[in-house]
Amino acid sequence: MDWTNKVVLITGASSGIGRGLAVELARRGAAVGLLARRAELLHEIVEEIEATSGRALALAFDVTNAPAVREAAGQLSASFGPIDVLIANAGVASSTNAEELKAEQIAALINVNVIGVANTVTAVLGGMVERGRGQLVAISSLAAYRGLPKSAAYCGSKAAVSAFFESLRLDLEPKGIAVTIIHPGFIKTPLTAGRKAQMPFLMELDDAVEKIVRAIEQQKKSYAFPWQLATMVRAGMLMPIFMYDWISRRNSFRE
Ligand SMILES: NC(=O)c1ccc[n+]([C@@H]2O[C@H](COP(=O)([O-])OP(=O)(O)OC[C@H]3O[C@@H](n4cnc5c(N)ncnc54)[C@H](OP(=O)(O)O)[C@@H]3O)[C@@H](O)[C@H]2O)c1
Repeated sequence: MDWTNKVVLITGASSGIGRGLAVELARRGAAVGLLARRAELLHEIVEEIEATSGRALALAFDVTNAPAVREAAGQLSASFGPIDVLIANAGVASSTNAEELKAEQIAALINVNVIGVANTVTAVLGGMVERGRGQLVAISSLAAYRGLPKSAAYCGSKAAVSAFFESLRLDLEPKGIAVTIIHPGFIKTPLTAGRKAQMPFLMELDDAVEKIVRAIEQQKKSYAFPWQLATMVRAGMLMPIFMYDWISRRNSFRE
């Protein structure tokens, strides 16, 4: 895939995976729109990209605000042209025992992880359908496949994102739009920093970014990594419930 002159909108681009993808895709020649709330961080990344002759635009917006996301998509198209690839990456995590869950906290997480994804997809989709081309990418999680201890809101949100994107794929592939769902395991980013719980096969950010970029280039429908953890998760999907519960309760990834 030739990234030169491709216009890419990346949400959650101020940090972690989104920032890594933005810098790497700009290095490969794409014009990148960086959407997140922290404007100062976005401007620093734009400067870093422009310093190496790349093209980037800071879009300081909140994914939970649908009109604002439409405005961001409009600004990106006006600056660099129609959006070719959306990477819906913005997300938050939480670790909460079921009995301590608060409705407002669940709603806030679902609002970013699910509604935020819907807001970005709908902001770019019309143009892609009109042109009969484009690619929608979701950064979901291996946590989408089955429930995990202390992760009801997060697992629920990622399962929703994966199912949402799978439905999009069925509708949009015949219209020339590729749909890619990425299911990462544990990656070293601010989201996982400071966690004391076990994080098997924890990956370096650069390695994860390289894998995600390759999956996007190959227009994979679904890509789960690292393979060791992805294999364990797939095995978990085939297990009878009593066996899955027994193993999962003894292997919590949240403190
Ligand atoms: N790290 C992992 O191990 C891992 C594993 C599987 C999946 N993932 C998924 O990968 C994605 C990125 O995670 P990360 O590890 O890179 O985390 P991160 O470093 O904490 O980055 C999260 C990004 O989301 C943005 N964001 C949060 N709320 C937002 C909002 N309301 N509007 C706009 N942007 C918002 C943040 O920017 P602002 O705060 O500036 O708005 C930040 O840029 C998430 O969807 C996460 O669930 C991560």
